[in-house]
Amino acid sequence: MAESMRDLLRGLRVFAGPLASFDPDSAPKDPLELFRDWFAEAVQAGVDEPHAMTVATADAEGAPSARILILKDLSPQGWWFATTTTSTKGRELARNPNVALLFFWGPQGRQVRVRGRAELADAESRAADFRDRPLEGRVAGLHGRQSEPLSESSQIHRMAQESRARLEADPDLVPDDWGLYVVRPHEVEFWQGDPDRRHTRLRYEREEAGWRRGLLWP
Ligand SMILES: Cc1cc2nc3c(=O)[nH]c(=O)nc-3n(C[C@H](O)[C@H](O)[C@H](O)COP(=O)(O)O)c2cc1C
Repeated sequence: MAESMRDLLRGLRVFAGPLASFDPDSAPKDPLELFRDWFAEAVQAGVDEPHAMTVATADAEGAPSARILILKDLSPQGWWFATTTTSTKGRELARNPNVALLFFWGPQGRQVRVRGRAELADAESRAADFRDRPLEGRVAGLHGRQSEPLSESSQIHRMAQESRARLEADPDLVPDDWGLYVVRPHEVEFWQGDPDRRHTRLRYEREEAGWRRGLLWP
């Protein structure tokens, strides 16, 4: 079993290309602008779900956990995502707002790493985000039990029926625990893979006057 896994792994290629190219000398001063450019290029290159990002949080002991979330927006404040405040990540963020985000766009050999602090949006923005969701998303988001143990899978079906009925009765319904967060970045790294392994890393660090840029050894 272990052998076949190793064989399977050794048969896989990484940086198969053709990869994207990146000239850090012509990178903009603002990392959000570069992110927007890279994101548009990922969409244009047909990368699957380029807006799916890994979000890492830490528990009270500092032990990290990571999961995929969908990027909802990018504004001058930072990167936005939506989830419940009562989930594992929501509870962790209430104690410790430090987060790391990671985007991986494999076909282009690119990753973008963001470190920052997550801030909960005001009640009005959270409600607007929830009401904008398609019906199925609202049905799934209404139960307020994300990350809780589930004793029987049939409970989901029952809960969905109940949630749908509640939404039919009150289409403006918003659960108390709906969370919309913005990650305000203090560090952003753009990583461009190279088939010869001479990868390019450009790191932006926030300073009072703006962003400081510098290259890193790959
Ligand atoms: C492609 C993809 C997109 C997802 N998008 C979201 C999302 O936007 N919000 C969310 O709460 N969970 C999303 N999930 C589920 C999360 O990965 C995770 O299972 C859930 O939020 C519970 O995480 P937690 O227990 O660490 O709080 C997504 C999962 C995948 C695979």
